Amino acid sequence: MRRGQGRAPARVNLIGEHTDYNQGYVLPAALPYFTEVTARPGEGVEARSDIFGETRARPLGPPAGDWLDYLAGVLWALGEAGYAVPGARFTVRSTVPVGVGLASSAALEVAALKALRALYRLPIEDLELARLAQRAEAEYVGVRCGIMDQVAAALGRPGEALFLDTQNLAYRRLPLFAGTRVAVIDAGLPRRLAESGYNQRRAECAEAARLLGVASLREVEDPEAVETLPEPYRRRARHVVSENRRVLRAVAALKAGDARAFGALMVASHRSLARDFEVSTPELDRLVELALALGALGAKLTGAGFGGAVVALVPEEAFPAFARKIQAAWPGTRVY
Ligand code: GLA
Repeated sequence: MRRGQGRAPARVNLIGEHTDYNQGYVLPAALPYFTEVTARPGEGVEARSDIFGETRARPLGPPAGDWLDYLAGVLWALGEAGYAVPGARFTVRSTVPVGVGLASSAALEVAALKALRALYRLPIEDLELARLAQRAEAEYVGVRCGIMDQVAAALGRPGEALFLDTQNLAYRRLPLFAGTRVAVIDAGLPRRLAESGYNQRRAECAEAARLLGVASLREVEDPEAVETLPEPYRRRARHVVSENRRVLRAVAALKAGDARAFGALMVASHRSLARDFEVSTPELDRLVELALALGALGAKLTGAGFGGAVVALVPEEAFPAFARKIQAAWPGTRVY
């Protein structure tokens, strides 16, 4: 029988946090964990997933509030974009950690869309595919994320960073530093209030832009411009404006092979996320300090914050001892 296959990686964001919904810059990197989807012709939506250990099926229609929504959502988004497909039967296999902030839902959506593209021979480019995946997540599943995760899932390749301008989706792939490792420190921290906090920050950034008379905070280049805003808009905007500048400097450091400068920018990003954007937690702050004390060149929370994981840049030869020491200091932590 005919079938289509698609595959998409997990991502970790190296720097450029909470900038994507402000039309700013981001620098995610794909991780060597993948979601693989096989799609076969069918009506409605049916899926078997090894992540959830079950099969679910239903006719196409409104969301039901379960994991099948991600797959029903991409079928819905295809229909909205004029690619009417009758439905599909999916098989999902994945090594992407779920619930850690490594964009497992984007990997699932993008892998499913790639499988559908192959099955139904749809003339969709990767960036359009990322947009469809974001639309599925935002409008069907109902999580109002930016575009970073879906573009990283559609274009990312392990070993490279993806420098993306979310204003126009212009991107460049950049090789990561030789001799260093991008480590994820997953202490199993629950993501408390992530959704409500995320939506609140989005609204605060939109209000800051309105008060400054600009369409988005991306347009603010002079860091001084935000200092006249009332709180909390002043600090929120200060994070976004300074974070965009840090991404540009991080890209320059990456091109120059300067891992120390890059690491320092990650630390500055974390401090800004903690103090000005207020999306860190005491546990994330402690993990970042621990990583730095144990020899990381840089460390920061990754993704939305409010829990989730820390990303660290670690000299390759120091990684095994680094991972052991983190696990000794914080039992139950996974470092990968
Ligand atoms: C989540 C969202 C992304 C981005 C990050 C913060 O991961 O899905 O779009 O906004 O938070 O940088």
